[in-house]
Amino acid sequence: MRYAEITGWGKALPPTVLSNADLEQLVDTSDEWITSRSGIKERRISHVAASDMAELAARRAIAAAGVEMEQIDLVINATCTPESIIPASASYVQAKLGAVNAGAMDLNANCSGFVYSYVTADSLVRTGVVDTVVLVGVERLSWVLDYTDRATCILFGDGAGAVVLQPTDTEAGVFGSELGVDGNMADLLAVHGDGTVQPGSSLVPPRIVMQGSDVFRRAVTAMADASEAVVHEAGWDLDDIDLLIPHQANQRIIDATSRRLRLDPARVFLNIHAYGNTSAATIPIALTEAIEVRRVPPRANLVFAAFGGGLTWAAAAVRFGERVTPVGEVDDELPGTDESVWDLLAANFKSFGRLELE
Ligand code: UT7
Repeated sequence: MRYAEITGWGKALPPTVLSNADLEQLVDTSDEWITSRSGIKERRISHVAASDMAELAARRAIAAAGVEMEQIDLVINATCTPESIIPASASYVQAKLGAVNAGAMDLNANCSGFVYSYVTADSLVRTGVVDTVVLVGVERLSWVLDYTDRATCILFGDGAGAVVLQPTDTEAGVFGSELGVDGNMADLLAVHGDGTVQPGSSLVPPRIVMQGSDVFRRAVTAMADASEAVVHEAGWDLDDIDLLIPHQANQRIIDATSRRLRLDPARVFLNIHAYGNTSAATIPIALTEAIEVRRVPPRANLVFAAFGGGLTWAAAAVRFGERVTPVGEVDDELPGTDESVWDLLAANFKSFGRLELE
């Protein structure tokens, strides 16, 4: 029997930090409000293109897997902040990697994009369509945030995470999955002013708008329901779960999902305080960090669960492989920057054409 195993993992976080204290200078908010309502303390703002973050995360995952670039059959770039509509950003990632034998595609399911992509990649490997997949979750959300809107700008950040999937004959990969959407409610979380919906729409600066409390209520129910469903589909008891690796949108949503699965904090991975919500990148970043701090034992039973724009949700019950140490590592880092967080946000503000930072 052929299965698909995660054999490599990696992340790339831009170095520039935007703290809650910084945000207090921008909008009417407080560290206390942001921390207690979301769990977020700081997030990263990128000075490089999303494909640069994606490339580094992918290089680290490829080294961890110990595969050659020529072996890669498919690059999937899960993102809702592509660099352009044409080409898909996956083309940039493929070119920067030099993955000369790979196909490449973007997959956009918003914050659920990594889980949607992972379930897709697992199926393609299991069925023999491809052998080696590099799957990246990457976002540069700072570019579509309105830093005058306290309801959204506190939540999101930039970053990338990646995994490599390869065939194996030992039991691994997706044992249960659920992919869901309520397209009728899509307007509750949207970026207006982008895409092809109306002529000239690109003249309007794209910005995220969100009905936060409505999205919150739906996320609590959908993430918990989907997680419970995939655990049952896998034939696991709740006690069989080694680690929940949830989408990091709001600690209170994660807590609700953990309660439904009756998981104590030792069996839930959290890094929302450090990076905020990086949409499709949260789970591969969290998985990488969980492996690095040895919270993923060999053959671990993991649950991935996400909710986001669309409104999409997704969950997967995942058996990890035997190897939890990287085959290799790369020393590369993102290029440094002399720009401050204010310099980087000024570029965003300028794109909105209405505010100047001092
Ligand atoms: O991954 C994509 C999916 N996205 C999510 O899952 C996000 C889901 N939503 C959330 O995480 C939460 O709804 C938020 C963290 C965005 C907001 O928390 P909340 O407890 O739902 O607050 P709320 O929207 O009901 O607002 C409560 C109050 C309001 O003031 P009034 O009307 O009660 O006077 C807001 O204006 O908090 C106010 N508020 C703020 N106050 C200080 C909203 N944003 C802020 C802020 N600082 N940044």
